[in-house]
Amino acid sequence: MKDNSQNTQLIDGKAISEQIKQEIAAEVAEITANGGKRPHLAAVLVGHDGGSETYVAAKVKACEVCGFNSSLIRYEDDVTEEELLAKVRELNADDDIDGFIVQLPLPKHISEQKVIETIDFRKDVDGFHPINVGRMSIGLPCYISATPNGIIELLRRYNIETTGKKCVVLGRSNIVGKPVAMLMMQKSYPGDATVTVCHSRSKDLVKECREADIIIAALGQPDFLKGDMVKKGAVVIDVGTTRVPSDKTKSGFKLTGDVRFNEVAPKCSFITPVPGGVGPMTIVSLMKNTLLAGKKAIYK
Ligand code: GUN
Repeated sequence: MKDNSQNTQLIDGKAISEQIKQEIAAEVAEITANGGKRPHLAAVLVGHDGGSETYVAAKVKACEVCGFNSSLIRYEDDVTEEELLAKVRELNADDDIDGFIVQLPLPKHISEQKVIETIDFRKDVDGFHPINVGRMSIGLPCYISATPNGIIELLRRYNIETTGKKCVVLGRSNIVGKPVAMLMMQKSYPGDATVTVCHSRSKDLVKECREADIIIAALGQPDFLKGDMVKKGAVVIDVGTTRVPSDKTKSGFKLTGDVRFNEVAPKCSFITPVPGGVGPMTIVSLMKNTLLAGKKAIYK
């Protein structure tokens, strides 16, 4: 009989993220003790989208833990594009602000791309500006966007082998799929993988997954990756965080990943849970970028 038993190690993004926040806090304490500037992150939040409210609140809280100053700037849904762009320009020019983010998505009447491109790339701690995306893709120092960087950091902290491995990325979004594929193929650890990007138009997605040593699922489709799509010993990173309605939780929803965990986990060597896997790492990656911005470590 085929032996399907496998020691599965859970990748604890929550624990790693707490550890990294402590590392950042220690560095900030040292910087300020030596008379240096306390890093300052600003976040712009438009409207009252439930997910965005939660994420921004978590970012502000994380700033506190890291010893950063933070500013939250709020607008109602009916803010004009010009008002928002004026705020972006003001933040660009404010020497006390080391880095800032405009939480996405934005209301339909505002061009997200225009907003992103108006942010000074030297303060773009989200790493969404084309200059940062371009520099990342050719391996130059830059702000790397939070989720891809969080995934890479988890692979590094768990010493997961990536060199020469077959990595399948599910999803081709600008925020996760494309950049994480780029990082996984980069000529250094964690990278050096043979990367295949699959998406809604891919013909042999299941076959690709079955052959993969590492699967990064970032489609935003709850429970998409099933047990029979994964080979024994694979590493599975679940980026999905769909808010599915639930009557079992106080908030009325349950965060659901792209991976059918109960089926997939027993076959894996490593797997991230949802919640508590990639999610907490995303916020901590933003904190790392803010620290870099405070130190002017990437751009002067
Ligand atoms: N919306 C979802 N993820 C993100 C993120 O990382 N940054 C911003 N600004 N908005 C988001």
